[in-house]
Amino acid sequence: MGLIVRFNLVITLAFVFGLALSALLMRERFIADARVGVLASARIMLQASDSIMHFTGEEVTPLRQAFGQEEFIRATVPFYASASIFENLHQRYPDYSLRNVALNPTNPRDRPTESEADIVHRFRSRPDIGELVTERTTPTGPILSLSRPVVARPECLICHSVPANAPSGMVATYGPSNGFGWQPNETVGAQIVSVPLSLPLAQAEEAVVHLVGTFGAVFVAVLLVLNALLYILVVRPIRNMARVANEVSLGKLETPEYERGGSDEIAILSQSFNRMRRSLDSAMRLLEKA
Ligand code: HEC
Repeated sequence: MGLIVRFNLVITLAFVFGLALSALLMRERFIADARVGVLASARIMLQASDSIMHFTGEEVTPLRQAFGQEEFIRATVPFYASASIFENLHQRYPDYSLRNVALNPTNPRDRPTESEADIVHRFRSRPDIGELVTERTTPTGPILSLSRPVVARPECLICHSVPANAPSGMVATYGPSNGFGWQPNETVGAQIVSVPLSLPLAQAEEAVVHLVGTFGAVFVAVLLVLNALLYILVVRPIRNMARVANEVSLGKLETPEYERGGSDEIAILSQSFNRMRRSLDSAMRLLEKA
C-alpha cells in the first residue's frame, strides 16, 4: 500500500471517528440547551400569569365592593383573569398553554386531563416540592410542562368551602357543586405551563448536521492540501531517487543525478545519496583499472 493511500486511510479513519464522537457529544449538549431554553419560556409564562393575577388581585378585585353580593363579576377573580388571557394565547399558539386546573374545579373547563391530574396527585403526595418539570409525547411532538401546586389558603375558602359562604352571584353562575369543599392548606390543583419541544429539538439536530457538514468540508479541503504537500515534498522526490537508484543498480551509470534543493530531510537524503553514488562510481572505476 502506497504512502499516500496509507496516510489518507489513517487520517480519514481518525477524523471520522473523532467527528462521530463529537457529533454525539454536541447533539447531547444542543438538546440539553434546547430544553433549558424551553424551560425558560415556560418560566416566563408562569411569571406572566403571576403578574396578571397580582394585577387582578390588587386593582380589579377591590372593585367588587362597588357591586352587591348578587352581582358577581368574574373578571375580579385572579385565576379567571389568568385562565382567560392564556386561553386567548393558546388560540394563537395552540402548542403553548397555561392551565389552572383543580381536581374539583369551579369552572368545568379547569377539570384536569389524565396527565394533568397525575401532576396534581404528585404535588398532593409530596407537599415539599414546589415545582415539577415533566415531558410527554403528543401527536404533534414532545411537550415540556412546568407545573406549580395551587394550595387553598384560608382566604380562598370564602369562595371554595361551602356555597353558603360564597357570593350568591358566583353560586348562580357556577352552581353549588363545583369548586367547593376545599380544605385549608390542601393542594387542590396546579398551574401547568406546556411548551412544545419539537421545534427547538429539530433546530438542535439541524445545528449538529450543519456543524458536521462544515467540519467535513474543512477536512476534505485540508486533506487535499496535505496530499498535495505530501506528494510534492516527499513522494515525488523519493520516487525520483528510487528510479535513479534502480537504474544505477542495473548498471546504467550515465543516469543523471537527482538533486533536490533546500535543506529539508529529503534534500539531505538526496545529497547523501548522490555522494554515495559518486563514491560507488570511483570505486567501480578503480576496480576496472586494477
Ligand atoms: C371571590 C371568590 C373567589 C376567591 C376568594 C377565590 N376564588 Fe378561586 N375561583 C373563583 C371562581 C369564580 C373561579 C372560576 C373562574 C373561571 O371561570 O375561570 C375560580 C377558579 C379557581 C381556580 C381554577 C380551577 C377552578 O376551580 O376552576 C383555582 C386553582 C382557584 N380558583 C384557586 C383559588 C385560590 C388558591 C384562591 C385563594 C388564593 C382562590 N381561588 C380564591 C372564585 C374565587
